[in-house]
Amino acid sequence: MKLDGKHMRTIWVGEDGWSVEIIDQTKLPHVFETTPLRSVDDAARAIRDMLVRGAPLIGGTAAYGICLALRGDPSDENLEAASRQLNATRPTAVNLKWALDEMTHAVRNLPREDRVAAAYARAAEICDDDAECCRMIGVHGLEIMKEHGKRKMDEPVNVLTHCNAGSLATIDWGTATSPVYHAHEAGVPVHVWVDETRPRNQGAALTAYELGHHGVPHTIIADNAGGHLMQRGQVDLCIVGTDRTAANGDVANKIGTYLKALAAHDNDVPFYVALPHSTIDWSLDDGFEIPIEERGAEEVTQMTGRLADGAVVTVDIAAPGSPAGNPAFDVTPARLVSGLITERGICRASAEGLLELYPERAGDEA
Ligand code: MRU
Repeated sequence: MKLDGKHMRTIWVGEDGWSVEIIDQTKLPHVFETTPLRSVDDAARAIRDMLVRGAPLIGGTAAYGICLALRGDPSDENLEAASRQLNATRPTAVNLKWALDEMTHAVRNLPREDRVAAAYARAAEICDDDAECCRMIGVHGLEIMKEHGKRKMDEPVNVLTHCNAGSLATIDWGTATSPVYHAHEAGVPVHVWVDETRPRNQGAALTAYELGHHGVPHTIIADNAGGHLMQRGQVDLCIVGTDRTAANGDVANKIGTYLKALAAHDNDVPFYVALPHSTIDWSLDDGFEIPIEERGAEEVTQMTGRLADGAVVTVDIAAPGSPAGNPAFDVTPARLVSGLITERGICRASAEGLLELYPERAGDEA
């Protein structure tokens, strides 16, 4: 990720060699602040309260949460307790459980005195792997961008994205944004329609922020504007991320993704979903088994923003006491997905398509 011209990741080990630094994303785009995690409680709170968010970054933070837990007590009991605590923070992104399983596997057969070092090594690998997967998603996605670029002559390729499946949601590069960044760097003119993504506004607050730092032309739109732009031919393709992809290619992503996929289908706009291997849940036959997080009503009835004097405040936007519901994700059926962009290449959103890219998983499906 580029911030003020400098390259940085979203999570790293601090200068003391053991604490873990993150960017507090609840403060963006108004204030850039990093904060240290010094315990498993800190890591769990960072995920639950969304200081970090986005499926791959949730996984990376959970991995380091295990490191922090084992520093205090490397016993089997503490490993299990920390894993349970972290796994209970957010239900939809499968990267969380994937990373916790990887960590458990890396340390459980080691003597206690070797566990902390092994845990930090595995957490670093998990983060490096995610950064590399996301880079490769961009390399493969660039081909799609180039195809559209040829058709557009010198006009920019207009990409619509939802939520933040950007660098801030991963360790680096992002999933949906990686093809965009690669296209921008390769000189393919690109412009991004950024869905604001109510209720938490990850599009307006985070995606626009990071695209701006990369110098990628973009426009924030109200969530309801996408269908209209597609009808007018102003969207060439959609690229979104996913929090969990079932073995049949159904994808769960931020609430509202499904409506964008429907509008794209109706208007013959290609709808791609970008993901690393760690987001595939081979144990689920289809997306309707994916647990959907229900978040607090206050996220719907309130909004946070910055006043002219610089103060960041939260205000009510509904009458006091108005009830509100807040499902945080929805499921887009595979039939509405034009293709899955992964670190191994692009495949159809189907069991067969996924198994062509990941043949070693044959038999792991439910
Ligand atoms: O609730 P969030 O902000 O964690 O939701 C994030 C998303 O829905 C992203 O699109 C998804 O995690 C893909 S991340 C590359």
